[in-house]
Amino acid sequence: MSFVLVVFVHPAVRRSRLNRSLRDAVRDLEGVRVHDLYETYPDFFIDVAAEQAVLREAGALVVQHPIYWYSCPALLKEWFDLVWQQGFAFGPGERALAGKPWVSAVSTGSQPGAYHPEGLHRFTLEEILRPFEATARLCGMTWQDPFVTHDAVGVSAEVVREIGQAYRRRLEALRDALKGP
Ligand SMILES: Cc1cc2nc3c(=O)[nH]c(=O)nc-3n(C[C@H](O)[C@H](O)[C@H](O)COP(=O)(O)O)c2cc1C
Repeated sequence: MSFVLVVFVHPAVRRSRLNRSLRDAVRDLEGVRVHDLYETYPDFFIDVAAEQAVLREAGALVVQHPIYWYSCPALLKEWFDLVWQQGFAFGPGERALAGKPWVSAVSTGSQPGAYHPEGLHRFTLEEILRPFEATARLCGMTWQDPFVTHDAVGVSAEVVREIGQAYRRRLEALRDALKGP
């Protein structure tokens, strides 16, 4: 049976508050597999064939990470560079990801208003996520609304729990949609 693959990317998970909590809120879900890239590849030596095999099997992709420098932690970039090859993910040859949904689940350290043309960062988060959206589209994937948590450092423990439950519901819906009508 197909499953939702959560690619979890955090270089310092013990210091993580938000992403660790979201991961823990979904890791027991049936039909959801959490794949921790930094745990699997602390030395950055990625097993490309193994990664491609799991991506082939997955029915939907959730890419979960904190926003670092308007992008992602370094290992996620390395993973795309090595694993999402032409002839596997795009271009002539295999298009192993085509038709699969992509949900980016990201957290920021800023207030929502900071991601605004007149705010601190000048650009909306939608604009910041464009390289990921472009990647999804190039590979024929379905870009879905991202799951965004702003002010990940400042939110209360109670709110973190609520966000975890919302994340769980979002992934359950993604998983249930894989079963079809
Ligand atoms: C190296 C680094 C770069 C960061 N860059 C950004 C950024 O560009 N925009 C932003 O809003 N927050 C930025 N942050 C804040 C993180 O996004 C925030 O600490 C994280 O989402 C909190 O999640 P966690 O509790 O799972 O670590 C950065 C943090 C670090 C350590």
